[in-house]
Amino acid sequence: MPSDAPVPKKILLFGATGTIGKYILKALIDDKTSFEKIGIFTSPGTSKDKADKMKYLKEKGVEVLVGDVNNEENVKAAYKDYDTVVSALGRNVILAQILLLSLARNSSTIRTFYPSEYGTDIEYAPSSAIEKPHQLKLRVRKHIRENITNLSITYLVTGPYSDLYISKMDTAPQVGSFDVQQRKAVLLGTGKEEVSFTTMTDVGRLLVAALKTPTIENPRTLKVNSFTATPSDILAEFENQMGKKWDVNYTSLGSLKGAEMKAWESNDPFATAYTLRRIWTEGGTLYEKRDNWKIGDPATETLEEQVRKAIEAQT
Ligand SMILES: NC(=O)c1ccc[n+]([C@@H]2O[C@H](COP(=O)([O-])OP(=O)(O)OC[C@H]3O[C@@H](n4cnc5c(N)ncnc54)[C@H](OP(=O)(O)O)[C@@H]3O)[C@@H](O)[C@H]2O)c1
Repeated sequence: MPSDAPVPKKILLFGATGTIGKYILKALIDDKTSFEKIGIFTSPGTSKDKADKMKYLKEKGVEVLVGDVNNEENVKAAYKDYDTVVSALGRNVILAQILLLSLARNSSTIRTFYPSEYGTDIEYAPSSAIEKPHQLKLRVRKHIRENITNLSITYLVTGPYSDLYISKMDTAPQVGSFDVQQRKAVLLGTGKEEVSFTTMTDVGRLLVAALKTPTIENPRTLKVNSFTATPSDILAEFENQMGKKWDVNYTSLGSLKGAEMKAWESNDPFATAYTLRRIWTEGGTLYEKRDNWKIGDPATETLEEQVRKAIEAQT
């Protein structure tokens, strides 16, 4: 159904203290003149543990609302003076969004909702429907399809974060690793398979660009990225910037699938990582055309910049 929601002006962010929420919040603050109000909803534990951060945010003009994401009254009270919910809730709390959506549907102020996605396309191909890591997000999308008619919904699909992919993996280097100190890489597949990446900084910038772009599409799914590269391209960029050759090993797609199966059987916490990296290596992040143009083609970071950051971070 088409959306007649006004352009978002009062943004309430859930998960603002998390891995990607921090980048989304920074992008909102950097562009705060585009919005009338920016607020975060955070748990009592986090607000206490990160008291300095909360003080800093208040100084920046961010409203800090403290409550339990599963508590109806806390959420209803938080919604009162906002028109848009951006959720960056973590994987283990994805289903809490069903309550958030229901309360948003019945709220007199919330018109726009961005569910927590910011990753692999969970409806890329028919086979996506059975991928284990997608199940909770698929339930949220199903809930939206079946129950939410009066909110403008945007799914921001970014593919993997290059910051995390282009890093050293201490515990399980076989899922892909770039070790700057040792100049050692483990490349996935043959090293020649393209993957579409978004930097974490760009996730924030692209989300802000999406908020600022009116839409009549509903739901709107934006498949955005920063750049596309193969593991071999990434390695070549490290070697180029460091002026030295690296040692290289490979985890073939077959080995990745074998490890993935074992990981799920043994409840290994890396199981999700194996599955997602298998999907990325199989090409499950690639499109003929990306959607950045639909939101004004904001400037994005490059592979060169990302590798430079990885070298700085590890040295
Ligand atoms: N593309 C990629 O490579 C990639 C990588 C990682 C994540 N993602 C996606 O990004 C989205 C956000 O993930 P994330 O890793 O950034 O999240 P996260 O850091 O695990 O958690 C984000 C926030 O959610 C809240 N939260 C987490 N567990 C909770 C619980 N049990 N009860 C109540 N609140 C809880 C916390 O906020 P407060 O304490 O402030 O309330 C936390 O800071 C997800 O959809 C995830 O799939 C994508």
